[in-house]
Amino acid sequence: MLVLGLETSCDETAAAVVEDGVRVRSHVVHSQVALHRPYRGVVPELASRHHVENLPGITRQAMDEAGVDWRDLDAVAVTVGPGLASSLLVGVSAARGIARRLDRPLVAVNHLEGHLHSLRFDPAAAPGEERLDALILLVSGGHTCLVERRDGAFRLLGQTVDDAAGEALDKGAALLGLPYPGGPAMEQAADGGDPAYLDLPRTRLRAKTGVPWRFAFAPEFGFSFSGLKTALRYHLRDHPDDLPARRADLAASYQAAVCDALTGRVARALIQRRYAVMAAVGGVARNRRLRGQLEELARRRNLPLRLAPPEFCTDNAAMIAGVAGVGGGLTGADAWAVDVTPGLGLSGTR
Ligand code: KG4
Ligand code: ZN
Repeated sequence: MLVLGLETSCDETAAAVVEDGVRVRSHVVHSQVALHRPYRGVVPELASRHHVENLPGITRQAMDEAGVDWRDLDAVAVTVGPGLASSLLVGVSAARGIARRLDRPLVAVNHLEGHLHSLRFDPAAAPGEERLDALILLVSGGHTCLVERRDGAFRLLGQTVDDAAGEALDKGAALLGLPYPGGPAMEQAADGGDPAYLDLPRTRLRAKTGVPWRFAFAPEFGFSFSGLKTALRYHLRDHPDDLPARRADLAASYQAAVCDALTGRVARALIQRRYAVMAAVGGVARNRRLRGQLEELARRRNLPLRLAPPEFCTDNAAMIAGVAGVGGGLTGADAWAVDVTPGLGLSGTR
């Protein structure tokens, strides 16, 4: 089954051809990072306009690199949400056009399910492993979720109640005068810095006695990063000489706090529940410190660890084509009827 995937949910224009859900024949990603950097974040109008300009060329390049003819395609898959409405619309319109022209099925894919699929691109993943019970940390710019896979179905175990981990890194990096996007900039700035320089909060959520807990998940599986950013802001206010002098130490301390908060929740879930595999996916899972901490945890718990390869952690279209290639996403008339869904949740398309 040969699937062309398109992804335009945020600031990456991407196309890929994937065979049977896991063999990536080609994948092309055009990042708009440089375009949005002066604004310190993604400007939706600029993003969609550049998707319109770049998607045709990126798609053609993916087809050329895969060495397949349009008629060889069995389906066209596209991200329908979550993401920026006007950006999603570019990919969805293109996918509809191609599918209609080729008379092939359209598959509407949830971006989050795409990220979850990307763990199957880990070369260490064994055949059939996708049926094993797994604990998956999904960490990106917009989402921070603990996801459980049982009997092949995904369930949200917990998520952030405020900022996503990537957002926390982006905001922390801005406070440290580092460029956008903050995650990779923070990682680079932290090189050689002392992670113990500043003791920043690793927030653990707790239900307060007498106050009803208002989320659909247990407090021990939730995350909160807004206090971390505020703690850094207060530290900088009280120690103005720390910038630029201690930038590396501050970046290392901040990065360590984010990684500890993430691995702490994973460790907690591993104590409470049984899994055969643990995994991490999403843009923040590119982070080398986080990968190292998860590797250490997996060793201690004697569990296999699947990490999406770095190029498939950040947004890409191979993960979207991948979902369709293993029978996921919405198909048939449902796919044609679906509208772009900016706030789509985890199980929205199944
Ligand atoms: O998955 P992704 O490409 O897009 C979303 O779906 O949000 O994730 C983007 C996020 C950004 O917040 C970026 O700062 C973060 O992933 N990121 C990293 C690294 N590379 C990207 N965070 C930490 N370390 C990295 N090396
Ligand atoms: Zn993403």
